[in-house]
Amino acid sequence: MNAPASPHASSVSPAGALRGALADLLDGLPPRQAAQAVERLIGHYRGATPTDAPILRDRADVAAYAAYRMPATFEAVRSALEAFADAVPGWVPAGHVDVGGGTGAATWAVTAVWDGSRPVTVLDWAEPALALGREIAAANPALCDARWERARIGAALTLDRTDLVTVSYVLNELTAADRAALVDAAASAAQAVVIVEPGTPDGYARVIEARERLAAAGFRIAAPCPHSDACPIVPGTDWCHFSARVSRSSLHRQVKGGSLAYEDEKFAYVAAGRVPVAPAPARVVRRPQIRKGQVLLDLCLEGGRLDRATVTKRHGEQYRAARDTEWGDPWPPHAG
Ligand SMILES: C[S@@+](CC[C@H](N)C(=O)[O-])C[C@H]1O[C@@H](n2cnc3c(N)ncnc32)[C@H](O)[C@@H]1O
Repeated sequence: MNAPASPHASSVSPAGALRGALADLLDGLPPRQAAQAVERLIGHYRGATPTDAPILRDRADVAAYAAYRMPATFEAVRSALEAFADAVPGWVPAGHVDVGGGTGAATWAVTAVWDGSRPVTVLDWAEPALALGREIAAANPALCDARWERARIGAALTLDRTDLVTVSYVLNELTAADRAALVDAAASAAQAVVIVEPGTPDGYARVIEARERLAAAGFRIAAPCPHSDACPIVPGTDWCHFSARVSRSSLHRQVKGGSLAYEDEKFAYVAAGRVPVAPAPARVVRRPQIRKGQVLLDLCLEGGRLDRATVTKRHGEQYRAARDTEWGDPWPPHAG
């Protein structure tokens, strides 16, 4: 979903405040040092994970992570949360726990989707990430009272009861046993669980594994799936993922070269609730193909079915809507 401004966002934009806070952070870092820290992190993430000690070891690592990755993880989580919010109209989380929250991208995303403040706890085993997250959060009034606590994800993890648990870009760093323990702990504690992973075949596989555990625990799937049945994708043939547009920072341009003002973050996700959910009747699961006089929409549908809809000029209003529809959007679009 190349999401435009959130219909849920307040007039003081958390996205803007986050950009400002991250720019301030970069101002304090010598560019070469920041670029080197990013290269080191990219190397780590290409290497063997899970690790048995935090990858984010010190302030330089964490500042690099925050400046380089937080805008992207923020946008991915925001997209997932918006899809969830659409499926639970009127529901607003009264509390939020972000597990493996690092510098708190998901906490910012929650404040971008639902106005107001709520008790927020960020759990992570990397103290430098928590410290920097707390520092950046000072720029967001809804996060001023957030608690940043050290916790290790594993069999011993228990979570206090809350409305919403987010787990963003974390499953990738865990063993299978710890992934299962984390999803079970989230399911026991929360009314809603939103899990986001990189939009790779492996990320999708971890999302599907979590989705099955959540469904087994009694959750209904709110998004992206229009159903709580098994995923219709035959394993190994394809993977369900989406895309969020992210403005590039100067650090991005330095590390990646080129002058593009943005890049597209690919992500996979599942959002599920014990609260009553009303999923979209269908969701666009690939970038729509716009041809002369027609739009081709690849859809996942109620009942756990994949199909392609061809919407032509003859469909009038629907055709105009299809031309504005983006990858990840519900179909048909909301009335009004
Ligand atoms: C890729 S970062 C994602 C951070 C944040 N959720 C985001 O979306 O930007 C993964 C985070 O998981 C944390 N983590 C990994 N394994 C963990 C474990 N066993 N216990 C607690 N935190 C862990 C790391 O310290 C790191 O902050």
